Amino acid sequence: MQITSFKQYEEDYKKSVENPEQFWGEVAQNFQWRKPWFKVLSWNFQEPNIKWFEGAKLNITENCLDRHLATNGDKPAIIWEPNNPEEESVTYTYKMLHERVCRFANVLKRNGAKKGDRICIYMPMVPELAIAVLACARIGAVHSVIFGGFSAKSIADRINDSQCKLVITADGAYRGSKQIPLKDVIDDALIGCPTVEKCIVLTHVRTPVSMLKGRDVWWEDEVKHVNDICEAEEMDAEDMLFILYTSGSTGKPKGVVHTCGGYMVYAGYTFSNVFNYQPGEVYFCTADIGWITGHSYIVYGPLSQGATSLLFEGIPTYPTPSRFWDIIEKHKVNTLYTAPTAIRSLMSFGEEPLQGKDFSSIRVLGSVGEPINEEAWHWFDEKIGHGKAPIVDTWWQTETGGIMISPIATVTPTKPSFATLPLPGIQPILVDENGKEIEGNGVSGNLCIKFPWPGMLRTTYGDHERCKQTYFSAYENLYFTGDGCMRDEDGYYRITGRVDDVLNVSGHRIGTAEVENAINMHAGVIESAVVGYPHDVKGQGIYAFVINPEMHGEAELTKKDILQTVTRIIGAIAKPDKILFVSGLPKTRSGKIMRRILRKIAEGETTNLGDTSTLLDPAVVEEIIEAAKKI
Ligand code: PRX
Repeated sequence: MQITSFKQYEEDYKKSVENPEQFWGEVAQNFQWRKPWFKVLSWNFQEPNIKWFEGAKLNITENCLDRHLATNGDKPAIIWEPNNPEEESVTYTYKMLHERVCRFANVLKRNGAKKGDRICIYMPMVPELAIAVLACARIGAVHSVIFGGFSAKSIADRINDSQCKLVITADGAYRGSKQIPLKDVIDDALIGCPTVEKCIVLTHVRTPVSMLKGRDVWWEDEVKHVNDICEAEEMDAEDMLFILYTSGSTGKPKGVVHTCGGYMVYAGYTFSNVFNYQPGEVYFCTADIGWITGHSYIVYGPLSQGATSLLFEGIPTYPTPSRFWDIIEKHKVNTLYTAPTAIRSLMSFGEEPLQGKDFSSIRVLGSVGEPINEEAWHWFDEKIGHGKAPIVDTWWQTETGGIMISPIATVTPTKPSFATLPLPGIQPILVDENGKEIEGNGVSGNLCIKFPWPGMLRTTYGDHERCKQTYFSAYENLYFTGDGCMRDEDGYYRITGRVDDVLNVSGHRIGTAEVENAINMHAGVIESAVVGYPHDVKGQGIYAFVINPEMHGEAELTKKDILQTVTRIIGAIAKPDKILFVSGLPKTRSGKIMRRILRKIAEGETTNLGDTSTLLDPAVVEEIIEAAKKI
């Protein structure tokens, strides 16, 4: 199933478009099924209703674990690098990981979990996080992993939306020199979560925590009460595998739903091809399992292919900005998959952290999460890849389950800041505002996908209508990505960024409406408007325009209060980089905020603001421009 030449890519692509069912049916043969499908695909984008590998039975953990035992049982499945480099790294072979997953799956059962139950996971980047995820899949429970940077309120909203029965967490997490009190945050969240019956707590940072009688149990105690034999639950290809919440243009995050069969095939196929993974290689993805990249390309994709996946707790700059390079040298990493924001941040430290580091093991480099600017691309290529490692700039989304548009390492000629070409099975199309296809090359438009692929979302949890409205209603018969895109003279795709009200801050998706709602919770705020602006390291920064009647005098104090409010309501990742107090916002006569103007002001533009004649009060723009000059 691995593509080894550009000619083969072209042939496979052609086949995947002309005969998708045959193509994916053949790819799926590389996985282990308990029972085969009777139909590869049935679909319509109107409802939408998408089914892949209908009738097939499987358990994804048998593909990620059991099937490797006979031949690769002693091969490392997971290598864990701790936050503090002085601590030992940990290696789990496939045999060990299988044993741990089965044991913990039994712990879940012992605590009342069964097939179909939703389980919230809020954990540090430790091997036990991967174990928890796989243990859920083993028993057919649906995991909902929440990134460790979200607040108690965000967690509670997500837990309640999917009525989780169980929570798996840890006492705390390390993040560079800081400790995050995960269990305290969970305790606050669970005050408002009536569906949660049990909370399993892993000891990690050894900080004291309070344990609620009857609800909270220790991971370490529980595993002593069970054995390590756990038959995998037989799942239908279209049974739910996980929910992952992501931000959109409304205030409320959506629970993107992925199912077992199609997701497995897609994550495994794309992992093997995009990174050109070779047996025995060490693959290092720096993402967090709390995001889709971690789900698909730390856990399911690599493990389904019997790869060695390196997992890291911490940040790229702790204890020094050489951290990644030390890990590469220590573990002889062959593939590094990271985010442009991390690259830009590490670039800013100059050459010194790179001195004397051994990059000779590096064969493939990858980028994900946001557009990679040319400067960062070249730095990555020259300093880390030494001009010899192809960079795969992988474009995809939580909703797509896996990589969609990307070079295939060693196969596709790359071009700085281009995601290049669609993978086999992916049929991108650019449309104008009216949904009319923009054909030919050297054009730009809104990026849509016109045919289903196995890894695509099936619904948004508990609200299918929302899924339809968000992704399938903007343009008839198309999946709308929310991204703008250009196709150059060579037919190569370059993603230009979101065209909706979603920000991409350090590769994290944040809805402007979400941040506004959070800011508006502050008692002193009347109204706010949030836009993105170009930020050297984060890609996009958050700029908040806030109407505050008490703006004179204690403004600084109030800004701090607003930051605290956002941290409490969403989490530190959504804190505005800039707050500007204003007396009014530019609104149309019908009361709509003209964000276009605010975006320009946030970008530093003072003259070319476009048409302001439809504004209710054009004078407010002048006032905002003057105020913006001062911050
Ligand atoms: O705008 C695109 C951007 O990230 C969005 C998806 O975010 P999320 O669901 O959090 O998933 C991130 C990891 C897959 C997209 O709509 N994006 C992702 N990858 C790229 C990108 N923009 C440009 N180039 C990329 N390679």
